[in-house]
Amino acid sequence: MSTSIGIHDLSLATTEFVLPHTALAEYNGTDIGKYHVGIGQQSMSVPAADEDIVTLAAAAAAPIIARHGSDGIRTVIFATESSIDQAKSAGVYVHSLLGLPSACRVVELKQACYGATAGLQFAIGLVRRDPTQRVLVIASDVSKYDLDSPGEATQGAAAVAMLVGTDPAVLRIEEPSGVFTADVMDFWRPNYRDTALVDGHESIAAYLQAVEGAWKDYTEHDGRPLEDFAAFVYHQPFTKMAYKAHRHLLDYVGFASDKDTISKALGLTTAYNTVIGNSYTASVYLGLAALLDQAEDLTDRSIGFLSYGSGSVAEFFAGTVVPGYREHLRTEAHHESIDRRKTLDYAAYRELHQRTFPADGGDHLTPAQTSGPFRLAGLRGHKRIYEAR
Ligand code: HMG
Repeated sequence: MSTSIGIHDLSLATTEFVLPHTALAEYNGTDIGKYHVGIGQQSMSVPAADEDIVTLAAAAAAPIIARHGSDGIRTVIFATESSIDQAKSAGVYVHSLLGLPSACRVVELKQACYGATAGLQFAIGLVRRDPTQRVLVIASDVSKYDLDSPGEATQGAAAVAMLVGTDPAVLRIEEPSGVFTADVMDFWRPNYRDTALVDGHESIAAYLQAVEGAWKDYTEHDGRPLEDFAAFVYHQPFTKMAYKAHRHLLDYVGFASDKDTISKALGLTTAYNTVIGNSYTASVYLGLAALLDQAEDLTDRSIGFLSYGSGSVAEFFAGTVVPGYREHLRTEAHHESIDRRKTLDYAAYRELHQRTFPADGGDHLTPAQTSGPFRLAGLRGHKRIYEAR
């Protein structure tokens, strides 16, 4: 029997601030039904001036290191598409903030929202090669579209850290995977922009195409039949997208796709995403956290995952929940992380959205806003300065 490998611990973090969709709707004159029902979003996380993908990632990963120590962690994989540097991995800053040993490799991965799933699979490969090792996989993103664009309602920010190793306490990741790639321009962000460009309706069609492709490949590699799964966790750019995707999959395989069947299969997975918004690479793993934190006992049940990243790459894979997993969940801490956010009005959100660092190489301190454990203190000589609070 092959070694069991998977997620041993999972922890999330989100931002200091939150913008309710009611405030956005009031500002732009949209009927709130479009946000609450049409896209299924209540609010979105907004980073403070001194928060970014590094501070969020470190905040998500610190409790994992506090619980398990750093022994055996020889690799840190940092998945993001809101990178802060073209050369240096954001993970190196996190490695330093967490005080991880120097005998460690750290790397950043990118393929839109899919990156963390690649990270998880690569981590499993490393652990299979040397079962004494553990890999820290971090997904951290700030989703940012232009103000006054249709994408504005689908922003958000969060990080999820996962410890991957043998005999996992939470979720065993299974083989096989179904994978899919297609060269499409549905969503992208050229290096000279800090907001994403998107063809919204094309992106929904590309996502649905990828669901079909990944599932087809999964079945061709002897994956489980659809009826084996207790729940499905989809990438959630907005929570209604998960409903569209699952309906598409059910129609594709010829199963009933009524509202109740779909809600039963994925309703619990949307609780965090509906109030956090799109967190790109972290989104599908926030869905997993929401499911595990709320569901009745899922011991020995299989969960189906569909990870999608625009551009596009998708993967369908399965995980089986491990006996005793509930003792290892961080439900209370997850709720605290979400509930601690302070509500912004639209003007304050807009000001934060428009903030950029001058590119003159000078000393630029950031205002102290975050109450999180780490902060971006400023930029000095083009170098980002991070500190523990
Ligand atoms: P839009 O054009 O503003 O909205 O864009 P719409 O007119 O399509 O309306 C949205 C839904 O609300 C529709 O429902 C309306 O009927 C409904 P649907 O027909 O889709 O079922 N609606 C209402 N419902 C109730 N009461 C009302 C009402 N009015 C309308 N009063 C869009 C929406 C999501 C396209 C836009 O926000 C956008 O471009 N977002 C960014 C792109 C995105 O999230 N794409 C998702 C797939 S791609 C992906 O997941 C990858 C991504 O995460 C990036 C990555 O991989 O890195 C984005």
